[in-house]
Amino acid sequence: MKTDGKKLVVFFSHTGENYNVGYIEKGNTHIIADMIAGATGADIFEIVPEKDYPKDSYNECIEIAKKELQQNARPAVKGDVKVEDYDVIFIGYPQWWGEPPMCVYTFIEKHDWNEKTVIPFVTHEGSGMGGTDRKIAAECKGSNTLTGKGLAIQGKIAQENQASAKKSVDKWLEGFGMKKDK
Ligand SMILES: Cc1cc2nc3c(=O)[nH]c(=O)nc-3n(C[C@H](O)[C@H](O)[C@H](O)COP(=O)(O)O)c2cc1C
Repeated sequence: MKTDGKKLVVFFSHTGENYNVGYIEKGNTHIIADMIAGATGADIFEIVPEKDYPKDSYNECIEIAKKELQQNARPAVKGDVKVEDYDVIFIGYPQWWGEPPMCVYTFIEKHDWNEKTVIPFVTHEGSGMGGTDRKIAAECKGSNTLTGKGLAIQGKIAQENQASAKKSVDKWLEGFGMKKDK
C-alpha cells in the first residue's frame, strides 16, 4: 500500500436542510475533508454538481437523490482536478442509501485511477461506510482502494462536535502514518 507521494482530498457535501442537523452552511463531509487536508497537507477539491440539490427542503433533496439512484444517473459536475497528478486520493461523500451520491461517480468516471491509492471516507447517520468503499473500489478501476480501512463519522458529530471528530480523523490518519500537523 503506497501512502506517500502527492495527496488530494476530493469530496462532495450537501449544504442546506440536512438529516438530523437542521439547516447547515457547511456540509458534514466538507468539515471532515478540511480536517484531512489540514492534517496531511493534501490539496483539496470539491465536487459541485451543475444543478444543485434543493437546500430548503430535505424531502425534495431526497426525492431527487432517489431518482438519480434509481436511474443510475451521472449528473454533470462543475470544474475538475487532475487526479492523474496525485498518488494518494481521499474520496469523501455522504452515505446515501448504500451509495455515494451519483455525482461522485460522474467525477470518478472522468479520470484514470490506475495504480492510485484511494482512501474512502464517509459521513452518515447510522449506516456507517455501508459497503460504499467497495462501490468506490469497483468504480476506480485499476486503483488500490483501501476497502475496510476508510473512515466513517456520524454527520451530526462532524457538524456539532468537531473536537471529537478531529480526534477520530487524527487517529485514523496516524494509522496510515499520514498525519503531518503534530
Ligand atoms: C438523500 C439522502 C440520503 C441519505 N441516506 C442515508 C442512509 O442511507 N444512511 C445514513 O446513515 N444516512 C443517510 N443520509 C444522511 C447523510 O448521510 C448524513 O446526513 C451526512 O452526514 C450528510 O453529509 P453532507 O452534509 O456532507 O452531505 C442521507 C441523507 C440524504 C440527503
